[in-house]
Amino acid sequence: MFDTQLFKDNLNTSWLGHNFFYFEELGSTNTYAKSLNKADSLQGSLVLADKQSKGRGQYERNWESDPGENLTFSLILEPGSADRLTILTLAFSLAVADVCEVQLKSSAKLKWPNDVLVEGKKIGGLLTEAIFNGSALERLIIGIGLNVNQKVFSSGLKDNATSLSILTKEDYSREKLLTAILTKAEFYYRLWLKKDIELIKSINKRLIGYGTWVKLDINGCKKEGEFKFLGINENGALVVLNKDLEVDTFSYEQIRIYPV
Ligand code: BTN
Repeated sequence: MFDTQLFKDNLNTSWLGHNFFYFEELGSTNTYAKSLNKADSLQGSLVLADKQSKGRGQYERNWESDPGENLTFSLILEPGSADRLTILTLAFSLAVADVCEVQLKSSAKLKWPNDVLVEGKKIGGLLTEAIFNGSALERLIIGIGLNVNQKVFSSGLKDNATSLSILTKEDYSREKLLTAILTKAEFYYRLWLKKDIELIKSINKRLIGYGTWVKLDINGCKKEGEFKFLGINENGALVVLNKDLEVDTFSYEQIRIYPV
């Protein structure tokens, strides 16, 4: 079971994760975070469950995670505007990747739009959801699943999923890993608020395919030809160079990137 006291004793953020909702079991931490009544500010709140019975992933998929082995949690942010959300999600992916990399010999990469991969396999995933009150952003929920101590994945996942424990043959304190992720996330959130270009550079360096020729699938349709992937720009749009050496940017499309 997650040791909430050990987590609190190790937490050294200024605000992120201080308001903590812990559950042994929940449908989904994202769904719970969305359902909270907004009497007071929820900025920085953390919702964590040892077991999710209805963990959700991107594209309406399920998020599978063995109870008590991994990290499944959601962070609530109230940035006031829904601009540059792609950058914010990638900033939190970067926090997860940084913390993984400290434990590993291999590098942890970001796969557009918000997966964390090690040695070509997925170790973590993020699901960002926004709640609006009319046209105003009320809150953002950044849901994070990180595979920590799980040794075996179901047959549908085993070829594409990994965990820290599979990669190093060690077991990890989930409480300490989480405090390290929150420290990094708080730092990157500050860079994001300041529109600091260093954040964009750090994200781009970690994106799989950055600076290489890739194939693109846009809104479910394969695009003809190859594109040089130039990463994200300061607005969070995805930038590519087409074969006529013109720059194309994509802001709202669902894009998948395939290395060639
Ligand atoms: C993905 O890669 O498809 C995103 C996975 C996001 C999973 C996390 S686990 C905690 C939070 N609660 C959920 O229901 N989903 C996110």
